[in-house]
Amino acid sequence: MTAYPKMTREELQKEYAAVSQKFQKLKEQGLKLNMARGKPGKIQLDMVSDIFDVFKTPEDYVSDGVDCRNYGELSGLPAAKRLFAEILGCKPEQVFVGGNASLQLMYDTISKAVTHGMLHSEKPWGKEEHIKWLCPAPGYDRHFKVTESFGFELVTIPMTADGPDMDAVEQAIKDSSVKGMWNVPKYSNPQGIVYSDETIRRIASMKPAAPDFMLMWDNAYCIHELEGNFLPFKDILSECAKYGNADMVFEYASTSKVTLPGAGISCMACSEANMAYLTKLMGIQIISYDKVNQQRHVLYLKDRAHTLELMKRHAGVLGPKFRAVTDTLDREIAPLEIGSWTHPKGGYFVSFDGMTGTAKRTLALCKEAGVTMTGAGATFPYGVDPNDSNIRIAPSLPPVEELTSAVAVFCVCAKMAAIEKLLEK
Ligand SMILES: Cc1ncc(COP(=O)(O)O)c(C=O)c1O
Repeated sequence: MTAYPKMTREELQKEYAAVSQKFQKLKEQGLKLNMARGKPGKIQLDMVSDIFDVFKTPEDYVSDGVDCRNYGELSGLPAAKRLFAEILGCKPEQVFVGGNASLQLMYDTISKAVTHGMLHSEKPWGKEEHIKWLCPAPGYDRHFKVTESFGFELVTIPMTADGPDMDAVEQAIKDSSVKGMWNVPKYSNPQGIVYSDETIRRIASMKPAAPDFMLMWDNAYCIHELEGNFLPFKDILSECAKYGNADMVFEYASTSKVTLPGAGISCMACSEANMAYLTKLMGIQIISYDKVNQQRHVLYLKDRAHTLELMKRHAGVLGPKFRAVTDTLDREIAPLEIGSWTHPKGGYFVSFDGMTGTAKRTLALCKEAGVTMTGAGATFPYGVDPNDSNIRIAPSLPPVEELTSAVAVFCVCAKMAAIEKLLEK
């Protein structure tokens, strides 16, 4: 197959006619497929639903002498703290175990900075003239929305194969109105990038002009390998402490994609000083989180080694789905030279970059053919991709057969959009 950019106008027109015909046939099938959000599939949910069988006797509700059915232990069950600390490589006393969503803990931390200020703030951020926030992009749309919702100016930082462009970050943090930065350090959403040791060193040793700079370290995919063995990662809390930045970092994780999204448990890890400051504020809004669920998770997941075994079983389900996507793209799109995509080793997404100016059109065509995808631009601050080229593919939810059909539709749509663009010239 000749690459599209090398085809003559006549060849492109002929190819467009053929691809459009395929598109019409697909449309007539009345498909209803979804590759929009990174949700575990039914097989994965069924696989972990024995988590509801762990309570056998009333003693099972008691952990380290704490009856988890009652009020108390605002910062979480000690055993749940130990479990997350073992996974993240930090100390149990640095862990706050929350409810069913780490996103809520992230939102809450930033909202406290706005209303009350952080440990080293001169004043609550709400009283600041203007706040800027660093957003490595492509990135997680919900992160960007959180900081946008507080009225911060979102500053795009390009992603490299090693993580955020640190030259750009180091330049940006000289501005004292730059108060924080989003990070997904392992298997980033959507590219599956793992930050290099050098990037982590440069981040941990940053000297931001803002004394209350918040390094948001969302380790959402810290144990979410798709293939191969568990990839160890650095404890960001001790890395930051090493450079005198102990209070700069807030790390987050959850069991949303270990057990059940929406019914899992989440955590925030931070310095002991931040923990003391934040728990005091938290204690005003909640007496304690759902410790029954925390205990359910402790009994079910047991420890890091046992949790990693479960993650291998998830990988057994997810791996073939990811391969179905990347194999099809490799076969159908690679020879045409109209895009590139990631082959992630972990996480929940494949990131596709089409020709400049084709992402919106590709997704509009997908929608017409009954395939729902994450909106174009979602992976960039303010939902605007300056190149209109990045598309996030989420292969986890549909069964493999449905996924195969959905990717086939996607390829046809990407081809049509690319030819239309080439014919514009
Ligand atoms: C990077 C990242 N962080 C956080 C979340 C949401 O986590 P939780 O369910 O713990 O709120 C997601 C979900 O897709 C994610 O991709």
